[in-house]
Amino acid sequence: MTQGRIELGAITPHNIKQLKRLNSVVFPVSYNDKFYKDVLDVGELAKLCYFNDIVVGAVCCRVDTTEDGTRRLYIMTLGCLAPYRGLGIGTVMLKHVLDYCNKDGNISNIYLHVQVNNESAIEFYKKFDFEIIETKEHYYKRIEPADAHVLQKTLQTKGV
Ligand SMILES: CC(C)(COP(=O)(O)OP(=O)(O)OC[C@H]1O[C@@H](n2cnc3c(N)ncnc32)[C@H](O)[C@@H]1OP(=O)(O)O)[C@@H](O)C(=O)NCCC(=O)NCCS
Repeated sequence: MTQGRIELGAITPHNIKQLKRLNSVVFPVSYNDKFYKDVLDVGELAKLCYFNDIVVGAVCCRVDTTEDGTRRLYIMTLGCLAPYRGLGIGTVMLKHVLDYCNKDGNISNIYLHVQVNNESAIEFYKKFDFEIIETKEHYYKRIEPADAHVLQKTLQTKGV
């Protein structure tokens, strides 16, 4: 049982520095100014996660449309500070993303990249029925291992 209150909150110009600090601690790659500018415009697709009113996690996504018009949700970042892992914080953030897709009804799948040695993230996503659909060699430029798995979960769309 989690001894604490887990809540999601909006990302605004007032707290975006908290997102930057969190991402710099949680992820081995850094994100550019455009990433943080875009995050302010995506509404429910980007959220901070609070544990007893402290920022401990964040999720940032975007919706991509492929050439044939298929819409896919891409998880750019979803992370939690190490001392707060295993408390269900990642689950709250991922369920928010799944709810978003379910309400939209026209998103075919959710996908993301993970470094091939990131076992905790791979286990986390497998619990929610994500599958490794591809492995991209040399995906990352400045970190080792440079290879990434593409994880994907197919969704039920409502159809036309
Ligand atoms: C992946 C990550 C977001 C998981 O967050 P979390 O808050 O610890 O996840 P939860 O507590 O909600 O875990 C849910 C389930 O995922 C699985 N899981 C999570 N961490 C795991 C680990 N280290 N080993 C095995 N399974 C794990 C378990 O099945 C767990 O359920 P359980 O607690 O009932 O066993 C977190 O480890 C993280 O921030 N990692 C660094 C950032 C990252 O790599 N993000 C992924 C790429 S976007």
